[in-house]
Amino acid sequence: MEVIIKSNYDEICQEAARIILEEWQKKRNLVLGLATGATPLGVYEKIIELHQKGEIDFREVATFSLDEYLGLEEDHPQSFAFYMEENLFKHINIRKDNIFRLEGRPTDIEAHCREYEEKIKKRGGIDVQILGIGRNGHIGFNEPGSSLSSRTRVKTLVEETVKDNARFFKSEEEVPRFCLTMGIGTVMEAKMIILLASGKNKNDAIFKSVEGPVTASIPASVLQHHPRVKILVDEEAGSLLSRRGYYKWVFKNKDRVKDYLK
Ligand code: PGA
Repeated sequence: MEVIIKSNYDEICQEAARIILEEWQKKRNLVLGLATGATPLGVYEKIIELHQKGEIDFREVATFSLDEYLGLEEDHPQSFAFYMEENLFKHINIRKDNIFRLEGRPTDIEAHCREYEEKIKKRGGIDVQILGIGRNGHIGFNEPGSSLSSRTRVKTLVEETVKDNARFFKSEEEVPRFCLTMGIGTVMEAKMIILLASGKNKNDAIFKSVEGPVTASIPASVLQHHPRVKILVDEEAGSLLSRRGYYKWVFKNKDRVKDYLK
Protein backbone atom coordinates (compact mmCIF):
# COMPACT_ATOMS: atom_id res chain seq x y z
CA MET A 1 0.00 0.00 0.00
CA GLU A 2 1.22 3.47 -0.73
CA VAL A 3 0.15 5.72 2.11
CA ILE A 4 0.31 9.41 1.22
CA ILE A 5 -0.14 11.83 4.11
CA LYS A 6 -0.83 15.44 3.16
CA SER A 7 -1.35 18.46 5.39
CA ASN A 8 -4.99 19.06 4.54
CA TYR A 9 -8.04 18.04 2.54
CA ASP A 10 -7.27 20.31 -0.39
CA GLU A 11 -3.87 18.66 -0.87
CA ILE A 12 -5.23 15.10 -0.92
CA CYS A 13 -7.77 16.14 -3.56
CA GLN A 14 -5.02 17.81 -5.56
CA GLU A 15 -2.92 14.64 -5.43
CA ALA A 16 -5.86 12.41 -6.44
CA ALA A 17 -6.63 14.66 -9.42
CA ARG A 18 -2.94 14.65 -10.40
CA ILE A 19 -2.88 10.83 -10.39
CA ILE A 20 -6.05 10.65 -12.51
CA LEU A 21 -4.55 13.11 -14.99
CA GLU A 22 -1.35 11.05 -15.15
CA GLU A 23 -3.31 7.83 -15.81
CA TRP A 24 -5.42 9.55 -18.48
CA GLN A 25 -2.27 10.77 -20.21
CA LYS A 26 -1.27 7.10 -20.54
CA LYS A 27 -4.74 5.90 -21.61
CA ARG A 28 -7.24 8.30 -23.20
CA ASN A 29 -10.13 5.84 -22.87
CA LEU A 30 -9.58 5.55 -19.14
CA VAL A 31 -12.28 3.70 -17.19
CA LEU A 32 -12.98 5.41 -13.88
CA GLY A 33 -14.88 4.01 -10.92
CA LEU A 34 -16.49 6.89 -9.03
CA ALA A 35 -17.66 7.30 -5.45
CA THR A 36 -20.08 9.74 -3.80
CA GLY A 37 -20.08 11.22 -0.31
CA ALA A 38 -18.48 14.40 0.97
CA THR A 39 -14.87 13.27 0.54
CA PRO A 40 -14.52 12.97 -3.27
CA LEU A 41 -16.17 16.37 -3.91
CA GLY A 42 -12.83 18.20 -3.88
CA VAL A 43 -11.35 15.70 -6.34
CA TYR A 44 -14.20 16.34 -8.78
CA GLU A 45 -13.68 20.10 -8.39
CA LYS A 46 -9.99 19.73 -9.26
CA ILE A 47 -10.82 17.52 -12.24
CA ILE A 48 -13.29 20.12 -13.53
CA GLU A 49 -10.58 22.79 -13.18
CA LEU A 50 -8.16 20.62 -15.16
CA HIS A 51 -10.81 20.16 -17.84
CA GLN A 52 -11.52 23.89 -18.02
CA LYS A 53 -7.80 24.56 -18.44
CA GLY A 54 -7.80 22.09 -21.34
CA GLU A 55 -5.49 19.61 -19.60
CA ILE A 56 -7.89 16.66 -19.58
CA ASP A 57 -10.53 15.60 -22.07
CA PHE A 58 -13.35 13.16 -21.32
CA ARG A 59 -14.54 12.27 -24.82
CA GLU A 60 -13.22 8.72 -24.56
CA VAL A 61 -13.44 8.29 -20.79
CA ALA A 62 -16.02 5.90 -19.30
CA THR A 63 -17.26 5.91 -15.70
CA PHE A 64 -18.91 3.36 -13.44
CA SER A 65 -20.68 4.33 -10.25
CA LEU A 66 -19.79 2.51 -7.07
CA ASP A 67 -23.22 2.32 -5.50
CA GLU A 68 -26.78 3.67 -5.39
CA TYR A 69 -29.59 3.89 -2.87
CA LEU A 70 -32.39 1.50 -3.67
CA GLY A 71 -35.72 3.17 -4.36
CA LEU A 72 -34.43 6.60 -5.38
CA GLU A 73 -35.23 8.00 -8.83
CA GLU A 74 -32.24 9.34 -10.73
CA ASP A 75 -33.45 12.92 -10.24
CA HIS A 76 -33.63 12.55 -6.45
CA PRO A 77 -31.06 15.00 -5.01
CA GLN A 78 -29.46 12.26 -2.90
CA SER A 79 -29.18 9.68 -5.66
CA PHE A 80 -25.74 8.78 -6.94
CA ALA A 81 -26.95 9.70 -10.42
CA PHE A 82 -27.93 13.23 -9.38
CA TYR A 83 -24.76 13.75 -7.31
CA MET A 84 -22.50 12.78 -10.21
CA GLU A 85 -24.43 14.89 -12.71
CA GLU A 86 -24.29 17.98 -10.47
CA ASN A 87 -20.76 17.60 -9.16
CA LEU A 88 -18.95 16.34 -12.25
CA PHE A 89 -20.70 15.25 -15.42
CA LYS A 90 -22.48 18.50 -16.32
CA HIS A 91 -19.16 20.36 -16.11
CA ILE A 92 -17.14 18.08 -18.41
CA ASN A 93 -17.45 16.68 -21.92
CA ILE A 94 -18.17 13.05 -21.01
CA ARG A 95 -20.46 11.21 -23.43
CA LYS A 96 -23.78 10.06 -21.98
CA ASP A 97 -23.30 6.56 -23.38
CA ASN A 98 -20.00 6.29 -21.49
CA ILE A 99 -21.68 6.83 -18.12
CA PHE A 100 -22.59 3.55 -16.45
CA ARG A 101 -24.47 3.46 -13.20
CA LEU A 102 -26.41 1.29 -10.86
CA GLU A 103 -30.09 2.14 -10.99
CA GLY A 104 -32.11 2.96 -7.91
CA ARG A 105 -35.21 1.31 -9.31
CA PRO A 106 -34.23 -1.61 -11.54
CA THR A 107 -37.02 -3.95 -12.62
CA ASP A 108 -34.94 -7.05 -11.88
CA ILE A 109 -32.26 -6.40 -9.24
CA GLU A 110 -30.26 -9.59 -9.78
CA ALA A 111 -30.20 -9.27 -13.55
CA HIS A 112 -29.26 -5.58 -13.24
CA CYS A 113 -26.30 -6.37 -10.93
CA ARG A 114 -25.14 -9.22 -13.18
CA GLU A 115 -25.33 -7.04 -16.30
CA TYR A 116 -23.42 -4.27 -14.51
CA GLU A 117 -20.54 -6.64 -13.83
CA GLU A 118 -20.62 -7.70 -17.49
CA LYS A 119 -20.48 -4.08 -18.64
CA ILE A 120 -17.38 -3.46 -16.51
CA LYS A 121 -15.72 -6.54 -18.03
CA LYS A 122 -16.70 -5.50 -21.56
CA ARG A 123 -14.97 -2.15 -21.02
CA GLY A 124 -11.80 -3.99 -20.04
CA GLY A 125 -12.22 -3.43 -16.29
CA ILE A 126 -11.89 -0.32 -14.15
CA ASP A 127 -8.53 1.45 -14.46
CA VAL A 128 -8.80 3.77 -11.48
CA GLN A 129 -11.34 3.31 -8.69
CA ILE A 130 -11.96 6.26 -6.35
CA LEU A 131 -13.10 5.31 -2.85
CA GLY A 132 -14.10 7.07 0.35
CA ILE A 133 -14.24 5.15 3.61
CA GLY A 134 -16.95 4.93 6.25
CA ARG A 135 -16.15 5.42 9.93
CA ASN A 136 -16.79 1.68 10.26
CA GLY A 137 -14.31 0.87 7.47
CA HIS A 138 -16.90 0.29 4.73
CA ILE A 139 -16.00 0.84 1.07
CA GLY A 140 -18.87 1.52 -1.30
CA PHE A 141 -21.80 0.29 0.75
CA ASN A 142 -19.96 -2.90 1.67
CA GLU A 143 -20.66 -2.79 5.37
CA PRO A 144 -18.63 -4.70 7.98
CA GLY A 145 -19.16 -8.43 7.55
CA SER A 146 -19.46 -8.19 3.76
CA SER A 147 -17.81 -11.09 1.97
CA LEU A 148 -14.36 -10.02 0.86
CA SER A 149 -15.04 -11.56 -2.54
CA SER A 150 -18.57 -10.19 -2.95
CA ARG A 151 -19.90 -8.97 -6.32
CA THR A 152 -22.38 -6.22 -7.16
CA ARG A 153 -25.54 -6.86 -5.15
CA VAL A 154 -28.10 -5.51 -2.69
CA LYS A 155 -26.80 -4.54 0.74
CA THR A 156 -28.57 -3.39 3.89
CA LEU A 157 -27.09 -0.30 5.49
CA VAL A 158 -26.02 -0.52 9.12
CA GLU A 159 -27.42 1.93 11.67
CA GLU A 160 -24.14 3.90 11.82
CA THR A 161 -24.16 4.55 8.05
CA VAL A 162 -27.81 5.58 8.12
CA LYS A 163 -27.00 8.08 10.90
CA ASP A 164 -23.85 9.32 9.11
CA ASN A 165 -25.72 9.85 5.85
CA ALA A 166 -28.76 11.47 7.46
CA ARG A 167 -26.88 14.82 7.12
CA PHE A 168 -27.58 14.65 3.36
CA PHE A 169 -31.34 14.02 3.82
CA LYS A 170 -34.11 16.00 5.52
CA SER A 171 -34.36 13.40 8.28
CA GLU A 172 -32.90 10.04 9.29
CA GLU A 173 -36.18 8.31 8.35
CA GLU A 174 -35.69 9.40 4.76
CA VAL A 175 -32.38 7.55 4.36
CA PRO A 176 -33.02 4.38 2.34
CA ARG A 177 -32.08 1.20 4.24
CA PHE A 178 -31.15 -0.75 1.14
CA CYS A 179 -28.72 -0.03 -1.64
CA LEU A 180 -26.92 -1.58 -4.59
CA THR A 181 -23.15 -1.61 -4.41
CA MET A 182 -20.21 -2.97 -6.33
CA GLY A 183 -18.90 -5.88 -4.29
CA ILE A 184 -15.53 -5.95 -2.59
CA GLY A 185 -14.40 -8.53 -5.17
CA THR A 186 -15.53 -6.15 -7.92
CA VAL A 187 -13.62 -3.22 -6.42
CA MET A 188 -10.51 -5.36 -5.93
CA GLU A 189 -10.37 -6.04 -9.68
CA ALA A 190 -9.75 -2.35 -10.44
CA LYS A 191 -6.21 -1.89 -11.71
CA MET A 192 -5.56 1.01 -9.35
CA ILE A 193 -7.46 2.09 -6.26
CA ILE A 194 -7.31 5.54 -4.67
CA LEU A 195 -8.90 5.74 -1.23
CA LEU A 196 -9.33 9.19 0.30
CA ALA A 197 -10.00 10.08 3.91
CA SER A 198 -10.08 13.40 5.67
CA GLY A 199 -10.70 14.43 9.25
CA LYS A 200 -10.28 13.00 12.73
CA ASN A 201 -13.48 10.96 12.58
CA LYS A 202 -11.82 8.70 9.97
CA ASN A 203 -8.54 8.10 11.84
CA ASP A 204 -9.59 4.85 13.49
CA ALA A 205 -10.94 3.36 10.23
CA ILE A 206 -7.72 4.33 8.45
CA PHE A 207 -5.51 2.89 11.18
CA LYS A 208 -7.40 -0.42 11.20
CA SER A 209 -7.51 -0.63 7.40
CA VAL A 210 -3.82 0.10 6.86
CA GLU A 211 -2.10 -1.34 9.91
CA GLY A 212 -4.63 -3.77 11.34
CA PRO A 213 -5.32 -7.35 10.30
CA VAL A 214 -7.26 -8.06 7.11
CA THR A 215 -10.79 -8.78 8.20
CA ALA A 216 -14.32 -8.60 6.82
CA SER A 217 -15.14 -6.61 9.97
CA ILE A 218 -13.13 -3.71 8.43
CA PRO A 219 -13.88 -4.07 4.70
CA ALA A 220 -11.20 -1.54 3.60
CA SER A 221 -8.51 -3.70 5.22
CA VAL A 222 -8.80 -6.05 2.22
CA LEU A 223 -7.04 -3.36 0.19
CA GLN A 224 -3.82 -4.65 1.80
CA HIS A 225 -4.14 -7.46 -0.77
CA HIS A 226 -4.35 -5.05 -3.72
CA PRO A 227 -1.13 -4.56 -5.72
CA ARG A 228 -1.69 -0.91 -6.59
CA VAL A 229 -3.53 1.03 -3.94
CA LYS A 230 -2.94 4.59 -2.82
CA ILE A 231 -4.30 5.69 0.54
CA LEU A 232 -4.55 9.49 0.52
CA VAL A 233 -5.11 10.97 3.96
CA ASP A 234 -4.76 14.33 5.62
CA GLU A 235 -2.88 14.68 8.93
CA GLU A 236 -6.03 14.17 10.98
CA ALA A 237 -7.23 11.03 9.20
CA GLY A 238 -3.70 9.58 9.37
CA SER A 239 -3.06 10.60 12.98
CA LEU A 240 -3.23 7.07 14.45
CA LEU A 241 -0.89 5.46 11.92
CA SER A 242 2.22 4.18 13.69
CA ARG A 243 4.45 4.35 10.58
CA ARG A 244 3.57 7.94 9.65
CA GLY A 245 7.20 9.03 9.52
CA TYR A 246 8.08 6.15 7.23
CA TYR A 247 5.17 6.81 4.82
CA LYS A 248 6.17 10.47 4.57
CA TRP A 249 9.82 9.62 3.96
CA VAL A 250 8.89 7.15 1.22
CA PHE A 251 6.65 9.66 -0.57
CA LYS A 252 9.22 12.45 -0.39
CA ASN A 253 12.11 10.30 -1.54
CA LYS A 254 10.56 7.97 -4.10
CA ASP A 255 12.52 9.51 -6.99
CA ARG A 256 15.79 8.70 -5.23
CA VAL A 257 15.48 5.06 -6.37
CA LYS A 258 16.91 6.27 -9.70
CA ASP A 259 20.07 7.52 -7.92
CA TYR A 260 20.94 3.94 -7.02
CA LEU A 261 21.00 2.94 -10.65
CA LYS A 262 23.46 5.58 -11.82
P1 PGA B 1 -18.02 10.58 3.29
O1 PGA B 1 -18.49 9.07 3.09
O2 PGA B 1 -17.01 10.84 2.22
O3 PGA B 1 -19.25 11.39 3.13
O4 PGA B 1 -17.42 10.67 4.66
C1 PGA B 1 -17.55 8.08 2.93
C2 PGA B 1 -18.23 6.72 2.81
O5 PGA B 1 -19.20 6.47 3.54
O6 PGA B 1 -17.77 5.90 2.01
